[in-house]
Amino acid sequence: MGALPPTIDDTAIWDAWLSQFRLPILNANLEVGTFEALSEGAYTTEALAKKLGVDARALAMHLAALSADGFVEKRLGEWRATHLARTWLHPEATGFWGHFLGSIDRNEHLRGRLVESLRTGKRPGAGVDERPVGWEQGTMAPEVAANICQFMHAHSQAPALGAARQPVFGELECLMDVGCGSGVYGIEIARAHPALKVVLMDLKEVAAEAQKYVDRYQVGAQVSTAGVNMFTEAWPSGPDGHFFSNVFHDWSDETCRDLARRSFEALPSGGRIFLNEILMDDDYTGPFQAAAFSLLMLVGTLGKQYSLAEFRDILESAGFTEVSAQRTGGGYYSLVSARKP
Ligand SMILES: C[S@@+](CC[C@H](N)C(=O)[O-])C[C@H]1O[C@@H](n2cnc3c(N)ncnc32)[C@H](O)[C@@H]1O
Repeated sequence: MGALPPTIDDTAIWDAWLSQFRLPILNANLEVGTFEALSEGAYTTEALAKKLGVDARALAMHLAALSADGFVEKRLGEWRATHLARTWLHPEATGFWGHFLGSIDRNEHLRGRLVESLRTGKRPGAGVDERPVGWEQGTMAPEVAANICQFMHAHSQAPALGAARQPVFGELECLMDVGCGSGVYGIEIARAHPALKVVLMDLKEVAAEAQKYVDRYQVGAQVSTAGVNMFTEAWPSGPDGHFFSNVFHDWSDETCRDLARRSFEALPSGGRIFLNEILMDDDYTGPFQAAAFSLLMLVGTLGKQYSLAEFRDILESAGFTEVSAQRTGGGYYSLVSARKP
């Protein structure tokens, strides 16, 4: 008996950690009046945001999570409270659960951050204990880089095995894993496609850390590393594929467009771009895991989880064509791909 190597199914772990959002989301929406408003009328996301005095982008993520959990529903673009929510979550309902739910919520920190970001549309409290993630300054101490790589490696092992199984990587000569973290994706893709060369690209401190994972997995003949700031420095030429995992979700729509444009410029004609992400449904009614992950991005980064429709718009704005996506089998992840004509 003993430790086993990872497999592609770790969804029970994801469900456990994302479940911490369930009660704070309910309480945050009780606090801003979502269920009361949606019991009395039907609203688009924008109209509801205006009525409640909250940010529409943040509200869309909350509504997706509430919809996935059966508290609200969307018909012809307008939201309403479900029978369940009208019965138990309307403050004037005989069966109102709100006082109870508010008093037993032990995750007041997360609830406070959810309410603040809902009201302002911004990452809460760039204050003392809530500094922006290390990479936003473009440089970091080696121990911060080591820490990022360690936690991202655990988080990404199963989805990386799922992504690596996609046959499309066998059609490429050289793939660059942009914002590679520990390099877990590039390394697994290289192991699954022995003829493929892989470049792991990240900020120089993280690339140096990724080199340790290359050495540990003994893939140095196939996989190299490059310390490059993707926003301010020239991208290595040569790769006919660019792979981004959990990178676009860290950034605003505008920054994603900039990244897509930089990728387009660096790729040869016929080159491919890949985005490995947990996708929101195109109509923003779920799924719960994507909506909860998106709220984590809202309170912790400058980004969110995007839908395929949003990614198509971003990628086409840079000049890419043939945008498509499929689930990889690695947890909740999908692989979005597009081609430079
Ligand atoms: C959420 S992690 C994703 C890591 C890995 N792709 C994964 O899915 O496990 C985002 C990565 O983007 C990198 N990153 C952020 N800003 C960057 C920049 N300006 N240039 C290069 N990489 C950057 C970070 O250092 C970090 O490794």
